[in-house]
Amino acid sequence: MKTSAHSDAVVFFGATGDLAYKMIFPALQGLVKARRLAVPIIGVAQPRWSGEQLRARARESISEHGEVDEATFTRLCGLLRYVHGDYNDPATFQRLRHALGTARRPLYYLAIPPALFPMVIARLKSIPATAAARIVLEKPFGRDLRSARALNRLLLSEFSEPNIYRVDHYLGKEPVQNLMYFRFSNWVLEPLWNRECVKSVQITMAEDFGVRGRGKVYEEMGAIRDVVQNHMLQVLACLAMEAPKAAGSEALRDQKAAILRSIRPLEKGDVVRGQFRGYRKEPGVAPDSRVETFAAVRLRMNSPRWKGVPFFIRAGKALAATCTEALVEFKAPARTAFGEKLFGRSDVNYLRFRLGPKVAIAFGVRSKTPGEHMLGEQAELVAMDRHAGEMGPYERLLGDSMRGDAALFAREDAVEAAWRVVEPILGDKVPLHEYHPGTWGPPPADKLAEGFGGWHNPAVDFQGGIS
Ligand code: BG6
Repeated sequence: MKTSAHSDAVVFFGATGDLAYKMIFPALQGLVKARRLAVPIIGVAQPRWSGEQLRARARESISEHGEVDEATFTRLCGLLRYVHGDYNDPATFQRLRHALGTARRPLYYLAIPPALFPMVIARLKSIPATAAARIVLEKPFGRDLRSARALNRLLLSEFSEPNIYRVDHYLGKEPVQNLMYFRFSNWVLEPLWNRECVKSVQITMAEDFGVRGRGKVYEEMGAIRDVVQNHMLQVLACLAMEAPKAAGSEALRDQKAAILRSIRPLEKGDVVRGQFRGYRKEPGVAPDSRVETFAAVRLRMNSPRWKGVPFFIRAGKALAATCTEALVEFKAPARTAFGEKLFGRSDVNYLRFRLGPKVAIAFGVRSKTPGEHMLGEQAELVAMDRHAGEMGPYERLLGDSMRGDAALFAREDAVEAAWRVVEPILGDKVPLHEYHPGTWGPPPADKLAEGFGGWHNPAVDFQGGIS
């Protein structure tokens, strides 16, 4: 992909916070190790820490969420600086300006709560380098269409669109990128990849854990804002988009935005919301919370390729397994060549993309059972990919943003299109059903996919050694 001038410093706000601890320090070590990062790295946060304290924090983070490579870690520490101070205090930004020295193209990573964005962005004006600077921010990009647009206006007040990098870490995942590669590089699929041959598509993102102490934050979101509006619709876009018309990040992002725009806004009857029993007892959660921890939706597209083909998405916490999988199910013939009667989903052709935690692609086929009769059984041709040495999504995305490659970042029009899809059903407009932890969500969710073979439950319906 075409890239532009490399950033000459990395500044991450929220250096003592959770995101930095879990994701950013390990990604920084990875980039230093791969010799893709050799510029000053400046952590900014409120506590009056010393550089030594920041380095200790970095070591702890990498030990817990990766592995410390001593030689690389020493190099990383040589690049690491710390600037403390209140984000509302001009003196903090003067210290930052001083720490930036001669850097003219810094990359600012906002690893801070969105409520602090306006303050930080306004203060960045005092640093003359802003015109050539890049800004990286994490989802959620607003909490509805209106706030997403307001956030965008705020970003555009200081940065131009090509310098804005919106992180949806699913796009940094190898198996998600492979959805596009696999489709468009296996030409044999093209004649099949449409309404003539595809019966339905379903994507499940199941997590067998609850909100892990994030109750207060989760209460502000719910499953639809947390993962459906972003990760799940991005995965859907990779499966459904048209091929990019040219090389480069914008042609790719044009097609993603176009397919997201073609999705009809959800109506109440297309959605089932659930909340796992016990959620209301989580710290930070209201005892009468109406926030969904599970959502199942049925989407339709106004696109010539997909008209009439339902796309199902199901995502939830405290489900029966942790697993993200997409299934493209092909139509079965009206009559089989040998008069065999085929029943249900396990008797059809499908392509199954296991996106995590283990990665696999499987093609569901029929194969003859040995014997006198022309009868068969269902089999899977499974390709597993262990992804040895794979770069984590944060390392990939941080490296790409420093190189100025926006291909794997969400563009504003796509973000807005995704909000338009979920906007009508945000909040408490759709009934909320309780479900038991360790199940596949509330029973009414099954109704949504009825008539299309029902949901398939990853790691249960298709084990094949990859559960
Ligand atoms: C985050 C969500 O964006 O993605 C979390 O806020 C979710 O609720 C997480 O658990 C899942 O990411 P991954 O990479 O573990 O599938």
